Amino acid sequence: MDLELILNILCGAIPLLYLLIYVIKQNKKKKNRNYLYGFIVAVVMALILIVIRLFVLTLLPMNKEQGNDTTTTTKTTEVTTTETTTTKVVDPTYSRLDVPEGGTVLGKTSKGYEVKKINGKYYVDGYLIANKTYNLPQDYNPGGLLTKVQTAVNKMFAAAKAEKGFNLTNASGFRSYESQKNIYNNYVARDGKAEADTYSARPGYSEHQTGLALDICDSSLTGCITNKFDNTAQAAWLNENAYKYGFILRYVKNKTNETGYIFESWHFRYVGVELAEKLYNNGNWITMEDYFGLTSSYDDKPIGE
Ligand code: DAL
Ligand code: ZN
Repeated sequence: MDLELILNILCGAIPLLYLLIYVIKQNKKKKNRNYLYGFIVAVVMALILIVIRLFVLTLLPMNKEQGNDTTTTTKTTEVTTTETTTTKVVDPTYSRLDVPEGGTVLGKTSKGYEVKKINGKYYVDGYLIANKTYNLPQDYNPGGLLTKVQTAVNKMFAAAKAEKGFNLTNASGFRSYESQKNIYNNYVARDGKAEADTYSARPGYSEHQTGLALDICDSSLTGCITNKFDNTAQAAWLNENAYKYGFILRYVKNKTNETGYIFESWHFRYVGVELAEKLYNNGNWITMEDYFGLTSSYDDKPIGE
């Protein structure tokens, strides 16, 4: 029952009951009956009860509010809990890189992601893209692997050492436009242009120029940056663990039609764990091209150009 109703009843019932008992007692008396005293006491009793009632009801809203606060807190806790379960807390060491400000929006990909050109570079959903469709300015030179990427590499290599005793090495990280030009031209001279294009990027199109990608080897192995690496325990470990440090296997097996390149078990690119986990896809790697809805072909132009 409502507390206010109970108090109202008590305010009236207690003095009345007292008065009733008092009157009955007086009635039993044969003489010196005095009803006034009982009436005054009943009135005083009623007044005291009314004051008590007011006092309790004045305090009650505070209690109610406190109760609401508790409810709100509970709700907030529930929301926080829900958010924690749906939005994973990302270790900032391996989080995605900040998106540079400014630039021009070129349009949207077939999968609805925004394509922007910022300082001559193409960003899709804020991720720098370098493939056969999306190239880099010739003079873009971050000078090496980005600091955040290098930190993630160091942590990943340390984990591989601790877990498996591997001595992973960076066989090739940042490559300038000129450096890529020399590499590519050497491959063209050796294998011809068509063949070279299946595994080596033309200058200005290599992810190595972004400062986000590297080819991984192990100091105990020979034949790195070749398919000899494919079936090594190191490649298997990287395949299963690189995403935890924000890296993706960039040139996935049997997805040449998407990436534009043959499988490279050694080439990893930093995107940050948020995207890396999605592309890892429980070991069934999704390419950036498929995920964002991009092409990778020298015959194509970037969206909006
Ligand atoms: N091997 C990769 C595709 C590059 O040359 O950047
Ligand atoms: Zn590479």
